[in-house]
Amino acid sequence: HTHYDFALRGRIFTFRANPFTVGDEASYHYYEDGVLLIKLDKIVDVGSYQDFELLEQKVIQFDKNYIIMPSFIDSHLHYPQWEAIGGFGEDLLQWLDKYAFKAEAKYHDINYAKAQAKQFLLNLIDNGITAAGVYCSSHPESVEALFEAADEANLHITAGQVWMDRHAPKSIIRPAKQSYDETLALIEKWHNHGNLRYALTPRFPITSSEEQLELAQALVKKYPDLTIQSHIDENSQEVAKTLELFPKAKSYADIFDQYNLLTPRTVLGHGNLLSEEEINLLADRKSSIAHCPSSNEFLGNTPLNLFGLQCQRPDLNISLASDIGAGTSLCPWHTMAAAYRASRSHRHALSPIKALYLHTLGGAESLSIDQITGKFAPGYQADIAIINTHATRALSQRMQTVENLDEEFFVLMTLGEASTIDRLYVSGVKLK
Ligand code: GUN
Ligand code: ZN
Repeated sequence: HTHYDFALRGRIFTFRANPFTVGDEASYHYYEDGVLLIKLDKIVDVGSYQDFELLEQKVIQFDKNYIIMPSFIDSHLHYPQWEAIGGFGEDLLQWLDKYAFKAEAKYHDINYAKAQAKQFLLNLIDNGITAAGVYCSSHPESVEALFEAADEANLHITAGQVWMDRHAPKSIIRPAKQSYDETLALIEKWHNHGNLRYALTPRFPITSSEEQLELAQALVKKYPDLTIQSHIDENSQEVAKTLELFPKAKSYADIFDQYNLLTPRTVLGHGNLLSEEEINLLADRKSSIAHCPSSNEFLGNTPLNLFGLQCQRPDLNISLASDIGAGTSLCPWHTMAAAYRASRSHRHALSPIKALYLHTLGGAESLSIDQITGKFAPGYQADIAIINTHATRALSQRMQTVENLDEEFFVLMTLGEASTIDRLYVSGVKLK
């Protein structure tokens, strides 16, 4: 007899492999009448209801309007940029100056940061997101506030102090050595504490001097298991300015590589303008790309050619991200729909199964937490979203004529809202 605290019964969906390599159908398990057994914070087993003998009083049942699936993972977003969402009418570098930097400047204030961090995490929970790669501001207070709040909720938060020592307002740049010292203290306090991980976060090469990148390199040498997050090849103006500042670099990616910052734990946002050489370099280093489709649309960036990248290097890990606040929504369905539109602009069509993978297990792989969360398997954390496929009037109506699971997910991508997240469990604890 299996020991478990409670079981969820209903339609259960989970990935077992990457649909980009094995094809959509071989990539997942789907149990029409399934059960998921949970003990403490972990999944004990998953399978067909008929294969288990369960105690009725320990079973929570969901009817056919619900899907039980792994919760979502957002591999790249900026928590201080809530106030920058919907900043009108600018390209990336101007948008940063006019909206993003102003928002981030407020996070020197620990009380402000604490209040905003709490709201941010509630927004993640509303949207069914239980793991994220998060940029804080350049102030250590912003990191402290986020980790403290995330720890309480057991969320898988990988986050870090943004490093900038030039080309930004005085209020958000600091001397390289100061950021280094502050980051050392944050790592000692928070890295690998519960579900929290520290991410070394040099914003992008425009705002980091060579001295700062050398310090980043030294820190990764000292802590080889640090996640590294930054941006790459987002728009042409940014790429031109970057290459001007690093005249000896062969490419944008080469700048990171010169400082040994391309590791299997590196997650780079965007990558819209990556060259073939850069794609090869990133794949060789096992680094990953966070695809930020709603952000690209909003800023008018050239959309990432996901299938082009996958075709050239199927081994390059890619995940989906909201990139709040240039991104326009934290809702995973909205981000998946934006990824679909981006794929159409390149004359491809991102399937709902592939989109879902990029926002669950693919994200876990990007953040190197795929041995812990992102799918249902024995020993994995019980991080579970229960989707109400009839959460809105529009969904309810449209679902009447849906004929299979792929269609159902695609309709969710097209019409879904945060309200589809009926329940959310993190480490076996119900948060929504
Ligand atoms: N590049 C450097 N910083 C940022 C940022 O905050 N948002 C986006 N979209 N791109 C960036
Ligand atoms: Zn970003």
